[in-house]
Amino acid sequence: MSYLLPILLLIFVNISQVYGHGGEDHENSTPKNDIELDADGFEIVSTAPSQKILVKINKNYLRNVKKIFSNKCLSCHGVNDSPPWYYNIPGPKQLMDYDMREAKKHMNMTNDFPFEGHGSPVDDLNALTKTIQKDDMPPMKYRLMHWDSKLTEAEIKVINNWIKESQKILIQK
Ligand code: HEC
Repeated sequence: MSYLLPILLLIFVNISQVYGHGGEDHENSTPKNDIELDADGFEIVSTAPSQKILVKINKNYLRNVKKIFSNKCLSCHGVNDSPPWYYNIPGPKQLMDYDMREAKKHMNMTNDFPFEGHGSPVDDLNALTKTIQKDDMPPMKYRLMHWDSKLTEAEIKVINNWIKESQKILIQK
């Protein structure tokens, strides 16, 4: 019977999230103005970055960050090729499908960087920075099921370094 508790927990947490959606509602939000400041308070002019720049950032992503995301993020934000055993149970399956759909709507990492979803590459890096600072990814209910899914200090360092480096490259143009 011990496996029932996590499942009930999963269902409960999910239901409360569906009705009290904690995330930002991107579909109904008005577009924010384009003025963004870098760490030194200078305006980042958001014209679309060139392909060359994106390829460079993606190279760094593939080298350093992707294996972390593969372990801890891509099951929702990308292709889930090793779903857990309880995925085959009708209740959890629907809830997980919902999560995976939501996750990809916000940020789809399937095809590496630049991620697909709602934002520009700069937006995506900012959103990543925010979730890492707030420590809210992977979602808590997922951590309850996968005890090792929380990002470690070392992983956070690698990801933050990549974000900082990428933001610098994007500003230079
Ligand atoms: C269990 C599924 C799941 C896992 C695993 C997961 N996420 Fe998410 N993620 C979501 C969902 C659902 C949303 C959208 C709703 C929300 O913001 O809570 C989301 C939203 C986000 C956003 C916000 C994008 C925006 O719209 O601003 C970022 C960034 C993000 N996730 C990064 C990560 C990272 C990095 C990891 C791995 C360390 C991760 N996620 C792991 C389900 C997941």
